[in-house]
Amino acid sequence: MCGIVGYIGHEKAKEILLRGLEKLEYRGYDSAGIATREDKDVTVTKAKGRIAELRKAADNDIDGSAGIGHTRWATHGVPSYENSHPHQSSSERYTLVHNGVIENYEELRDTYIPDVAFVSETDTEVIVQLVEYFANQGMTTEAAFTKVVSLLHGSYALGLLDREDKDTIYVAKNKSPLLVGIGDNFNVIASDALAMIQVTSEYKELKDQEVVLVQRDQVVIKDLAGNVVERDSYTAEIDASDAEKGVYAHYMLKEIHEQPAAMRRIIQSYQDEQGNLNIDPEIVKDVQSADRIYIIAAGTSYHAGLVGKEYLEKWAGVPTEVHVSSEFVYNMPLLSERPLFIYISQSGETADSRAVLVETTKLGHRSLTITNVAGSTLSREADHTLLLHAGPEIAVASTKAYTAQIAVLSILAQVVAAERGRETNVDLLPELAKVTAAIETIVDDAPKMEQIATDFLETTRNAFFIGRAADYNVSLEGALKLKEISYIQAEGFAGGELKHGTIALIEEGTPVVALATQEHVNLSIRGNVKEVVARGAHPCIISMEGLEKDGDTYVIPHVHELLTPLVSVVALQLISYYAALHRDLDVDKPRNLAKSVTVE
Ligand code: M6R
Repeated sequence: MCGIVGYIGHEKAKEILLRGLEKLEYRGYDSAGIATREDKDVTVTKAKGRIAELRKAADNDIDGSAGIGHTRWATHGVPSYENSHPHQSSSERYTLVHNGVIENYEELRDTYIPDVAFVSETDTEVIVQLVEYFANQGMTTEAAFTKVVSLLHGSYALGLLDREDKDTIYVAKNKSPLLVGIGDNFNVIASDALAMIQVTSEYKELKDQEVVLVQRDQVVIKDLAGNVVERDSYTAEIDASDAEKGVYAHYMLKEIHEQPAAMRRIIQSYQDEQGNLNIDPEIVKDVQSADRIYIIAAGTSYHAGLVGKEYLEKWAGVPTEVHVSSEFVYNMPLLSERPLFIYISQSGETADSRAVLVETTKLGHRSLTITNVAGSTLSREADHTLLLHAGPEIAVASTKAYTAQIAVLSILAQVVAAERGRETNVDLLPELAKVTAAIETIVDDAPKMEQIATDFLETTRNAFFIGRAADYNVSLEGALKLKEISYIQAEGFAGGELKHGTIALIEEGTPVVALATQEHVNLSIRGNVKEVVARGAHPCIISMEGLEKDGDTYVIPHVHELLTPLVSVVALQLISYYAALHRDLDVDKPRNLAKSVTVE
């Protein structure tokens, strides 16, 4: 979703901002803009569409060693030049970028500035006009900005330039992510560290409703009462080259290929010196004392949670529920007496999940975040964090984060099981090593996956994924992957549910991808395949060594039955990738989607 960058130093800001915005492209956007400050002029350049369009528009002598930039994912008003950021106040003294949604913007407009003429349909413009309104009442810019921040309801990350002040970018955040990067004679702001990792790896976190003055040689953080807050910086452990595509045509393909390496990193990171699985004992204690685990997540992370539930119940013996965060926040079920909340989020910034965390923290419940991004909001605000160690995931379609989430959950469940003296009959480390090798085999089989995409999905408008037990969970993820990047309407179903409605949709040639990796339901799922074939379906059967039958489309290497989701999904990821590629679609940046969904 929207991304923000800002720079104040001694170099030309324009190129630094544009490069920063390019690094934020992965978050999803539909327009972009920058503002740079030179002498007493602030120059705003905006464009609908990609950063490449903004680059063309900014192809002039824009100078200035301070500036702010923005990628916009439309919420209030269509993607257009007028609605894209930065926005300016009527006199053009103030220029602002904003990420988030202001819930009370109409009320604020009607109360304070009913006569101001607005040029955009955005909630953002109200903020910048309000700063000007309070400045016109005689307040300093800092006081006016602080006043406005105290009036806003909703989510925001803000960067403000004042034409009258060449030395400061005014910054604040609430719920939306924003970091300040610390440089040598310069400072930056960014929605995430990846955007500015090329210029600095030192960052300061900001807390909600702080007002921050970012200047060339200092960063002053204050609370709303004006008290200065001291905050240490941390080093972001991101290798700038991890965020590049390298030899791959797309980030998604690169990230699919990185899964074996991510698995090895996870195995290494969660092992002690004796080679035993190792999780922070405080986390294990919290899981042990919970009478029920509630997994809260969205999208692919929710699907990983469904797999994790199997481990937590079958191995660790803890009753576990999995909930979609956007539902849970408005419709909380009856909770157990001692719940533990596990938030699964690749980005650690998903607003729906964060909204649940805020509520459950208020209720006094313990929480654990499983995320790929150290220092992310969900990580900072939960009691504990387990990191995925998957490296930056840039493609909108989540791939390596899904397998990493499942692997980390499997380790957590095994450690808790061991602590409880529960026999699981699984020696997880060698099993995960087998999984890693199996993923490698599938990645090497990419040409076969491309052929499957051609054979089954080249011209279809819809496709179904079916499975039972662990395969059902993967069928949901397979369908999500396909629909989000290829725009083929795809749904995942429990094999047994077909005859309760969905089978009515099967026509001559309808592709049905059936997963058959579970021994105890192998006959049943194959029976479901027969039912759809009898109605004209084109079945693509993905089975596992030991369970395969003549005519299966692809057979994955044999792994432990509960770990098959880590392997079969890789085949589905590649099939989806090639299906989208053959349709000539923007695989990494599918339409309407954002990588980090930072608004509810
Ligand atoms: O960063 P998160 O894991 O919290 O994101 C949750 C979903 O938005 C995300 O998994 C989404 O479904 C992916 N685009 C799917 O590939």
